[in-house]
Amino acid sequence: MREKAYVTTPIYYVNDVPHIGHAYTTIIADTMARYYRLKGYETFFLTGTDEHGQKIEEAAKIRNRTPQDYADEISGKFRSLWDEFEISYDKFIRTTDEEHKIGVQKAFKTMYDNGDIYKGHYEGHYCVSCETFFTDTQLIDENLCPDCGKETRIVKEESYFFRLSNYQEKLLQWYEDDEKCVLPKGKKSEVISFVKQGLRDLSITRTSFDWGVKLPPEINDPKHVMYVWLDALLNYITALGYGTDQKNMTYWPATVQLVGKDILRFHAIYWPAFLLSLGLPLPKHIAAHGWWTRNGEKMSKSKGNVVNPKEVADAYGLENFRYFMLREVPFGQDGDFSQKALIDRINSDLSNELGNLLNRIIGMSGKYSAFGISSKNVWHYHEKEITNVMEHLRQAENNLNDLQTNRFLEELWKALTIANQSITIYEPWVKMKNGENDFALATVAMVANILAKVAILLHPVMPKTTHKIAEALHFSINHDAYVTFIENNGLLEDFTIQKVPPLFPKVEAELLKAPEPTPAKEAKKEEVKDTAISIDQFFETKLKVGTIIEAVAVPKSKKLLQLQVDLGEEKPRQIIAGIKEYYKPEDLINTQITVVANLKPAKILGLLSEGMLLAAKDANGLTLIRPETPKDNGSSVG
Ligand code: ME8
Ligand code: MG
Repeated sequence: MREKAYVTTPIYYVNDVPHIGHAYTTIIADTMARYYRLKGYETFFLTGTDEHGQKIEEAAKIRNRTPQDYADEISGKFRSLWDEFEISYDKFIRTTDEEHKIGVQKAFKTMYDNGDIYKGHYEGHYCVSCETFFTDTQLIDENLCPDCGKETRIVKEESYFFRLSNYQEKLLQWYEDDEKCVLPKGKKSEVISFVKQGLRDLSITRTSFDWGVKLPPEINDPKHVMYVWLDALLNYITALGYGTDQKNMTYWPATVQLVGKDILRFHAIYWPAFLLSLGLPLPKHIAAHGWWTRNGEKMSKSKGNVVNPKEVADAYGLENFRYFMLREVPFGQDGDFSQKALIDRINSDLSNELGNLLNRIIGMSGKYSAFGISSKNVWHYHEKEITNVMEHLRQAENNLNDLQTNRFLEELWKALTIANQSITIYEPWVKMKNGENDFALATVAMVANILAKVAILLHPVMPKTTHKIAEALHFSINHDAYVTFIENNGLLEDFTIQKVPPLFPKVEAELLKAPEPTPAKEAKKEEVKDTAISIDQFFETKLKVGTIIEAVAVPKSKKLLQLQVDLGEEKPRQIIAGIKEYYKPEDLINTQITVVANLKPAKILGLLSEGMLLAAKDANGLTLIRPETPKDNGSSVG
């Protein structure tokens, strides 16, 4: 039987339209689902909307709508955004679906019959925005919600309780036994210390409003509706048919349940406790990512400071946006959204390092072998490179299995670096000139094979782009390709490469109107106006490490040397530098320097200068700024 995988996103509240925070969670989940499919797992990917509760009831009321009518509209917006984003979900659940309600009632009844639910009275503080109860000691300034800062309300009502306190030890045991049950590690420790402080029983029904699932008919207590979090969490099993046709319950337990850190407590404490009460196995990974912020503040529907993911994807390309989101932020940490950072990823990682590699393969094979590429001598001449690449790819997969999306992509890019550097190191054009054709052609084929392997693992992040790369390289990305090229480390069959239009055209300037800065940010800007530049401004300057491979004096000049510097590019750069009074040309050969690599080329005494080197000067003379230990040519500084 094929291995199964089950991936979930949170179900989003329908109190407002989706923003890039929701897109982020959904895109990571989509990437995982696509990765499992690539590995050949039978995969079920669930997303949906959370439609009950006081928050939605009130959002509808303000708009003079019924909750159902309002929920229909916003749920539709989430669904159509995911469709436009080609999110590969297998089911979109709504908590107002009939099967879901039946499943939730069955679960309530089971927990009740197991003695985990009892009736009592609740008195305490409730935050409607977070749909969460708090105790006196948790509040800030006596009545403010510790999570979102809004005012809480005093709630005093009859309520059913879930015996959460009974599960404290079992939960602690789970965290201890299953190292990766909550990811990343740092978040897991927070959960453990929260549980160790002691768990109180949880109020799971409400009587003050009625937009929710009724209690099971057998319990016959029509005043009560279920607490929205109980209703919502159960979606992960009702979507598989729990309590109705059971059809897809074979997918349980979930492989990965993605959540934002704001709702980790519900997923890493309440949810497994409910599952234990139901006698069901616990999920393999609950993975919590950080927040996307704007000017340092969490982006949220309630705050109204959101970035529209559709606009970003339309302007910059959906797959570029997916790459950016997963690459830019270490999983679990917060990230501030900026167009500059996105543009930089597109121009450097995607255009220079990935897209350009394909162009180089096309260019070289066109010149040397009429676009024909053969892997026959790759092992013979380039075993070392292929072996190194395979190690990076294995590490990449390990990282992805731990949801470390950024480190996953970093490892893939290390493989691309090996390909790009091999071209510089082996100089196939020189080899061709010297009659070492076999070697040169093997180098080109090796690089093509690295690109093919990277494309396969990158496929879950950039499905269409990687199909285009595969098409050029004459293979298809699917499970068989994964087995052949990744698991079994096979090489491409002989093929004729196809020319393709550039995959990642450079982006010259911001494509979206800058969002209005918030007043806080304005004030900060004022303060530092004259002395400070932003980190983005700093990174507009591309500093790189390079090796001087040639140095000669510029005739008739007292100050200038003419240098050839290897920056890891196809050709060395010529740099004209005013350092003749301080350095002898022969002392410079084979030493490393730091170069400003993105200056407009200039002519100095009639000679082209394609960069500037960094040096410090004082009364004692001038000294070059160099890396302390050797770095690969082209390494960026910053
Ligand atoms: O909490 N950055 O729904 P919700 C990153 N219905 N991710 C963000 C984000 C941000 N600024 N803002 C939201 C709910 N998210 C409940 C869930 S599940 C049984 C019930 C993402 O609409 C992130 O995944 O408030 C977060 O956990 C989720 O949206 C919350 O969505
Ligand atoms: Mg929220």
